[in-house]
Amino acid sequence: MQWGTRLGVIMAVAGSAVGLGNFLRFPGKAVENGGGAFMIPYFVALLLVGIPLCWAEWAMGRYGGRRGFNSAPGIFSVLWRNPLAKYLGAFALLIPLTVYFYYIVIEAWCLGYAWNYLTGDLMQGKNVEGYKSFFVEYSGQGADGSLFSFANGVPQLLIFVAIVFLLNFALVYRGLSKGIEMFCNLAMPTMAVCAVCVLVRVLTLPPNPANAEQSVANGLGFMWNPNYDALWDPATWLAAAGQIFFTLSVGFGVIINYASYVKPKEDIALSGLTATSINEFFEVCLGGLITIPAAFIFLGAVTLTSFTGSSFSLGFNALPNVFAEMPGGQFFGFLWFFMLFLAAITSSVSMLQPVMAFFEEGLGVKRFGSTVIMFLLTTLGTLFVLYYSQGLRGLDSIDFWSGELFIVVLALIQCLIYGWVLGIDRGKEELDDGAKLAVPGFVHLVIKFISPAFLAWILVAMLMSKNTATGAYKIVEKLQDPLQATGFGIVVGCIVLLWVMVFFAGQRWVRQGRYAALDKE
Ligand code: PHE
Repeated sequence: MQWGTRLGVIMAVAGSAVGLGNFLRFPGKAVENGGGAFMIPYFVALLLVGIPLCWAEWAMGRYGGRRGFNSAPGIFSVLWRNPLAKYLGAFALLIPLTVYFYYIVIEAWCLGYAWNYLTGDLMQGKNVEGYKSFFVEYSGQGADGSLFSFANGVPQLLIFVAIVFLLNFALVYRGLSKGIEMFCNLAMPTMAVCAVCVLVRVLTLPPNPANAEQSVANGLGFMWNPNYDALWDPATWLAAAGQIFFTLSVGFGVIINYASYVKPKEDIALSGLTATSINEFFEVCLGGLITIPAAFIFLGAVTLTSFTGSSFSLGFNALPNVFAEMPGGQFFGFLWFFMLFLAAITSSVSMLQPVMAFFEEGLGVKRFGSTVIMFLLTTLGTLFVLYYSQGLRGLDSIDFWSGELFIVVLALIQCLIYGWVLGIDRGKEELDDGAKLAVPGFVHLVIKFISPAFLAWILVAMLMSKNTATGAYKIVEKLQDPLQATGFGIVVGCIVLLWVMVFFAGQRWVRQGRYAALDKE
C-alpha cells in the first residue's frame, strides 16, 4: 500500500494534525495560561520536541516501511532488534485507539451543531443560559446514562454518533489512497475556505453597540496580551508541551504509520515540515484569531472568562451566543461547525488506520476483518464515554490517561529509540535520503539529548504534581475517583489486549521469515 501522490501524504498528515485541538483546545489553553506569554513555552516546545520528534517519526516510519512493516509494533521491531521492542510499539496503537473513543463524540457534537444551524434550531430564542442548557442536554451532561434513557425518543446525538462512525469506517475501509488521501485532498482546502470566511466575518465585526470597549481589537488583546507571571508556573509549560503533541499528532503513533507508506526516495524532511507549518497556520492564525475575539465582542471579558475553563464551553456555549447576535449568524454558525466537523474527521480517520494496519499485518486479517475488529473495539469504548456523560467525566478520564499521560510516555519511547537505538547517524541518513531540505545536524542532537530530558521532566512533573488544596498527589487523587480509575482500567485493559495480539503477531512475523533479510543488513 502506498500514498498516491506526495501532496496527498502531506494533506493526510496535515489533516490528522489540524483538528479540534487547533480551534477549540488551543484558544482555551492560551487564555488560561498567560495569553500571549503562552506562546513562549508553546514555541519552545514546538522547537524542542514538536518538530524534532515529528521528523523522527517520519524517518522511523519510512525506515520501517522500506523493510516491509507499516504498524508500529513491526516498525519498532526492526528499529530495535529486541523481543521487547514490539511491545513498546503497542503504545503507538493504544493512543490512537483510545483517543478515538471520545474524539468521535466531539466530532458528532460538531456535525450535530452544524445540522441544528441548518435547520435553524440553534438560532431560536436562546440566551446565555439557554445555550448552556442546550449543550448540557445535547451531550447528556446532566446525568450518567441520560443519553440512553430514551425518555423522549432517541437523542439526536446518538444518531449523529452513528453517522460519524459510519463515515469514518467507510473512509478507512476504502483504503489509504482512495479513502483517506482522497478525502483529505478535498477536505483541507474546504476547511481553509470556511475558516477564512468566518475569520473575515469576525475581524470585520463592529464593536458591540452596548459597550464600545467590546471591540475586535480588545478581543484580540484579551487573548494575546501577555501575562508573563504565568511563565514561572510549571503548569504553563506542561500545558504548552501537551498542546504541541496534541495538535501536531506527534507522540500518538499516527505519523509513524502514515510515513511508512511513503515512496522510498521521497523528501520526508520537507513533507514533515510542510504538514507542521500548515497545522501552525490553522492553529495560530485561524484558531487563535476567531474564537476568542468573536466571543469577546458579544459577551465581554467577564462572561467570557466563565467559559474559558473548558475548551468545550468556549466552542459549544460561548460561540452560539455570538452567532445568534451576528448578522448572517445562521450561515456562519453552520460554516463554523461544519468546518470543525471536517477538521475532526480528517483526524479521527488517522486514529483508525494505524491500528487497522496492525491487525492486517500482525494477525493476517484482510481490510474487511480489520474494519470489523476496529469497529467493535471502538464501539465499546465510545459507549463508555457516552454512558458516563455526567459532567463529561467519562470523556475526561480517557483524555487524561491517554491524551495527556501516555502520549508523553510514547513520545519518550520514540525519542529514545530514535536517538539511542536506531542512532542519530542512521536516523539522519534516513531523513536526508531524497531530501532537498537539509535538516541541520543539531536537530538530531536535540532529539538525542534535549527532547528526552524535556519529556522526562514533563513526566515527572505530571506524576509529582500535587493538589494545592489537599496536598495530595493529583494522580493518586485521580485513581481514588472510581470513574477515573475505570478510565485507567480501560486504557490498561486495551494495552494488555494489544500485547496479547502483539505476542502472536511477533511469532507470525518470525514464521514468515520477515526478519531474514534484516539479519544480513
Ligand atoms: N491533532 C489533532 C487535533 O489537533 C488530534 C489528533 C490526535 C489527531 C491524535 C490524530 C491523532 O485535534
